[in-house]
Amino acid sequence: MVDLKQQYKKIKNEIDAAVMGVIESTSFIGGPQVSAFAQNLSQYLGIKHVIPCANGTDALQIAMMALGLEPGDEVITPSFTYIATTEVIALLKLKPVFVEVDTQTFCIEPEAIRKAITSKTKAIVPVHLYGHSAKMEEIMAIAKEHNLFVIEDNAQAIGGDYYFKNGISKKTGTIGDIGCTSFFPSKNLGCYGDGGAMCTNDDELAEKLKMIANHGQSKKYYHDVVGCNSRLDALQAAILNIKLPLLDSYIDARIKAADFYDKAFAGNEKITTPYRAEYCKHVFHQYTIELNNVNREELVGFLAENNIPSMLYYPVPAHRQKMFASFGSGNINLEKTDWLTQRVISLPIHTELDEEQQNFITKKVLEFVNK
Ligand SMILES: Cc1ncc(COP(=O)(O)O)c(C=O)c1O
Repeated sequence: MVDLKQQYKKIKNEIDAAVMGVIESTSFIGGPQVSAFAQNLSQYLGIKHVIPCANGTDALQIAMMALGLEPGDEVITPSFTYIATTEVIALLKLKPVFVEVDTQTFCIEPEAIRKAITSKTKAIVPVHLYGHSAKMEEIMAIAKEHNLFVIEDNAQAIGGDYYFKNGISKKTGTIGDIGCTSFFPSKNLGCYGDGGAMCTNDDELAEKLKMIANHGQSKKYYHDVVGCNSRLDALQAAILNIKLPLLDSYIDARIKAADFYDKAFAGNEKITTPYRAEYCKHVFHQYTIELNNVNREELVGFLAENNIPSMLYYPVPAHRQKMFASFGSGNINLEKTDWLTQRVISLPIHTELDEEQQNFITKKVLEFVNK
């Protein structure tokens, strides 16, 4: 689905030097690379504070801890997402309240959020799935009206833009109270292992996030709150410092690949290509199509026979996962989510795709769906 080897080859000299620099400095935990990355990313995102951590799942967990959510509090979340979003809610003994997504954008529906609000609701977690932003302007208005926190799951959309009706634009992940992201290798900004970050404009919240990620420590060996150990290591930070300036060009390459696919599939009634809402810039972490009257499993097999990888993100929505059975989640009716999870398929999309590869992929997809 991605070609990290080719991507690495183009920046090998800088990456190798940066990695060797960390090894020679023996400053493996914290240190100048990590603080430089926090600063570089906050500048890129246009946000006051970036707090690096070990991975995107931790980022979501720490965000919920910092907001002081208590067991039993309800957190509204889409069911159509990677499991990490919803898992941390349950891990903290909060109650995930699964709601529908918009069938065009695959992102949480503001109206569904409204309907799910109760006196116990404390937070909303919109997920910018596949690189397309959720409707943040509406979501922030609902949150304000009902005094709810908003934690953006920006793991798949770093670098994306959101355009407000008044002409202002902001980076996805910088709109809610806290934005969380992942630097998993295949992400738009990926490191060479695990990594993640939280960001906020709130000074007090930033201190709490920092403290919780560091054993609840306010100063060395003084632990004020229960926290965890979640660090971005210096080697990963050094790699990210090289890759961050390339993020916009990586996104451009993904958009170019998406344009190619869109053009090849245009007008085919068996394929619905990804929607791009006018309120945001889609950064195409995934290129996910919806199949109409096509046997998806057979298509996956046919593509695999032709050495074309494809993925089903995600074959089982969260509300149908066994881990949430105790929340009675099997009885929740989310027709749109069920419909989509049975019909979507993601095709290879990354920074190194060339026309020849895309010609072959689209030819094979069309050959199968048109037969
Ligand atoms: C939507 C979403 N949320 C959270 C995560 C968790 O990130 P990580 O794998 O870095 O823990 C991911 C990444 O896989 C993701 O895609």
